[in-house]
Amino acid sequence: MNKIQTVKTVSELRRLTAPWRKEGRRIGFVPTMGALHAGHMSLIDEARAQCDKVIVSVFVNPTQFDRPDDLKRYPRPVEQDIALCEKHGADMVFIPSEQEVYPNGYRTIVHVDDITSRWEGAHRKGHFDGVTTVVAKLLMIVLPDAAFFGEKDYQQLLVVKALTEDLNIPTRITPVKTMREADGLALSSRNVHLNAEQRKTAPGFHKILQDVASRIKGGESPSHVIAHAIGQMREIGFDRVDYIAACNEYDLAPLTAPASKGRVLGAAWLGTTRLIDNVAIEAVEG
Ligand code: PAJ
Repeated sequence: MNKIQTVKTVSELRRLTAPWRKEGRRIGFVPTMGALHAGHMSLIDEARAQCDKVIVSVFVNPTQFDRPDDLKRYPRPVEQDIALCEKHGADMVFIPSEQEVYPNGYRTIVHVDDITSRWEGAHRKGHFDGVTTVVAKLLMIVLPDAAFFGEKDYQQLLVVKALTEDLNIPTRITPVKTMREADGLALSSRNVHLNAEQRKTAPGFHKILQDVASRIKGGESPSHVIAHAIGQMREIGFDRVDYIAACNEYDLAPLTAPASKGRVLGAAWLGTTRLIDNVAIEAVEG
């Protein structure tokens, strides 16, 4: 196993990757906020399979958090993260400080319109501006041929695709399927905050989203099915449902009639922990 390079500054990253570019190596990039789990590893594995060099970034981006307590308690097991990246064959981990990413006097925000106004965008004010600004910066810093994003954050994936299209950023955005626990719960860095009872309730979310998808595919009315699903979420123990939505796969506009293709998205709370998940309408597994 090659020793992984840990890099903290943009200038060092540029210096160390210049020879890779000169040699025509294909560079794959996996942006993360750390607290890495098997879901992140599936992105690294995919990058490893498709590219010659793999760079992972670990940066808990403060500008995309809409709740100070969520940012404060976000897990940061940095040494463990580096070891996992190394184990999965990444060549470099980029771990910049906040000052390196947003130096004093930083002034530019990247805003993607329309698709960001719905669902996550409506419930987390400013969230997507934080995401698109940091992703645009990271893509400019790393200049990768391909970047890997999880379907777990389906709206984020579409927003990042829109960003690279609109700004002509020559990086191919590559989706990777959602990695789940055996009981269906989507892996997430925030799952560590769930207590034993909440952890038992959590997989019901995925089952309910799957049920919504199959009923809509089977010809039932989306609005009727969604109202029923929100009721079920409360019954099984979720404290609050921000939204459950059945949408088209392109701009996430709500479906107004039964459809055989699309995406069901949801966000819901167990205590102070907010979970998001989604499934495809055409598939049994999302
Ligand atoms: P983070 O939540 O750390 O996720 C990093 C990447 O891992 C994202 O593309 C996310 O969709 C993917 N991912 C998370 N859980 C997954 C799972 N269970 N299966 C498959 N992929 C999964 O998303 C972010 O960080 C940030 O917004 C970021 C893009 C890094 C910008 O700060």
